[in-house]
Amino acid sequence: MKFLEEVEKVLGNEIKKLDSEAEVGLSFSDRPELSNFQSNVCFSLAKTLKRSPLSIAEEISSKITSEKFEVFAVAPGFLNVKLKNSYFSEIFEKFFNDKRLGIEKSKRKKVVFDYGGPNIAKPLHVGHLRSAVIGETIKRLSKFMGDDVVSDVHLGDYGLQMGLTIAQIMDETDCSYYFTGQGERLNLTANELEKFYPKAAARAKEDETFKKRAQEITVKLQKGEKGYFDIWKEITKISVEDVRKIYDILNVSFDKWYGESDSQKFVPKVFEILNEKGLIEKSNGAEIVDVSEDTDDSPMPPVIVRSSAGAELYATTELATIVSRLEEFEPDEIWYLTDNRQALHFKQVFRVCKRAKIGENVKFLHFGFGTVNGADGKPFKTREGAAMKLIDLIEIVKEACKKKILESGKLSENDDIDALATAIGVSALKFGDLINFPPKDYVFDLEKFCSFEGKTGPYMLYSIVRINSILNKAGNFEPCFEVETDFEKEILISLLKFKEDVALAAKNHAPNIFVQSAYNLACSFSALYTSTKILTETNEKRKASLLSLIKVVGRALEIFAKLLAIDVPEKM
Ligand code: ARG
Repeated sequence: MKFLEEVEKVLGNEIKKLDSEAEVGLSFSDRPELSNFQSNVCFSLAKTLKRSPLSIAEEISSKITSEKFEVFAVAPGFLNVKLKNSYFSEIFEKFFNDKRLGIEKSKRKKVVFDYGGPNIAKPLHVGHLRSAVIGETIKRLSKFMGDDVVSDVHLGDYGLQMGLTIAQIMDETDCSYYFTGQGERLNLTANELEKFYPKAAARAKEDETFKKRAQEITVKLQKGEKGYFDIWKEITKISVEDVRKIYDILNVSFDKWYGESDSQKFVPKVFEILNEKGLIEKSNGAEIVDVSEDTDDSPMPPVIVRSSAGAELYATTELATIVSRLEEFEPDEIWYLTDNRQALHFKQVFRVCKRAKIGENVKFLHFGFGTVNGADGKPFKTREGAAMKLIDLIEIVKEACKKKILESGKLSENDDIDALATAIGVSALKFGDLINFPPKDYVFDLEKFCSFEGKTGPYMLYSIVRINSILNKAGNFEPCFEVETDFEKEILISLLKFKEDVALAAKNHAPNIFVQSAYNLACSFSALYTSTKILTETNEKRKASLLSLIKVVGRALEIFAKLLAIDVPEKM
């Protein structure tokens, strides 16, 4: 803890006298009413010194005298640390003077982020929400920590799904324009477009001839055959425009809009490498790579890189994409964010890379996340039991927020209520997601997510709006760093925790860590706000100190909002 060096040094000196190996290990106190920080070091010292932890704690605390903090022993052997006001003031000033709030950058690395993963001609559904939301935040966090980041949406625009969709479109609409140049171009909305695939998929199950035709179209498409390829381009365009609109609402953006199809050119190279390393085996006409390892305690199926019908599969495209990314970006790491259910796929693909020495020095990471569930604990569905479209979910949340805004009666007719409802709704969705540890499922609870009180996105936005409004009303002031009450101390402790947790969240790829601390910080601000007069304070120094502190809180919450990619409204 950079801001507590003094404590660590003084305590460290005493501890070293007893055992040169022991570490202070300062942590936030879980009983803030008693102390600010605590160390458990005496419990490990007790083992080496063969004495009771409490007697060691008492010995250490009796030797420490500091103007800045107190140390006292607490049964059964904790060292509790309480900072004096002057020390709090010092920390306060340091925070005020550092835009990054003391959050140090880590060693720079180049990371490719693969998230989003929308599929062409299919609507984005609730499952795609998490990849977009978690991916965007983890990417921003990594960038904030100093990494060089590239994001790629990795469109699902390849394979039989495309052949099926095109076959269905050709049966239902006149596509002669694409083959003869006569007639009209396809004039489809994304909504119309997404009707074709489900029909085609159902049809293929019953109608062998249709399925065959779709397979043939897939092959023609992959060869870039005129007509089919042009229809594919057309539907890709419609689909991507639609997807972009949704990502724009969510403030999710990508450097690259590559698709699985873009990796096509690298497929021969994948086979060249696999053949050269002798990794390909034939099995019932298919080409497979064995990826089992002696230490596996459950069966590890081989990876099929080419089906008996000669088609390349999901894993093949994945490997080709890796080869292309290595060439284009020369990354140190590639991170994938998908549903937990793809864990096996990535494990297999990473093992192929290891065997084939593809990206030998590159670290491949897959972060699987859980599902968004309904109140019944099952994946969230529409009332009719279908998968909920992401755009519909956004709409529902937006409407719920709009209702709350209108109820509050704070806005006038001139305010852009729709834009405000969208901003608040997005904060509700994102916060509701990111407050959870990513691998876990969570329950989507509209009422809870959209509430302006409690642990929610709207509450966070509201706190920032209030801070901005106080600072605007206050105008210029001369910074001052005097700390008086426990409310202010509590805020400084929350700031220290937030600072630590941003780094910890980055290290663990778990945004929920800093999201929780940002919420705690907002709560400690709110406690100060409701108990203390600020703008009406007549003691100028006191007022300036309070405003300075609020400014630092505002800065921390801005970092939070930026990492979540949520827009802060001017008023709400
Ligand atoms: N399009 C896939 C899906 O909807 C997700 C793609 C994830 N990324 C990847 N490189 N495989 O399930």
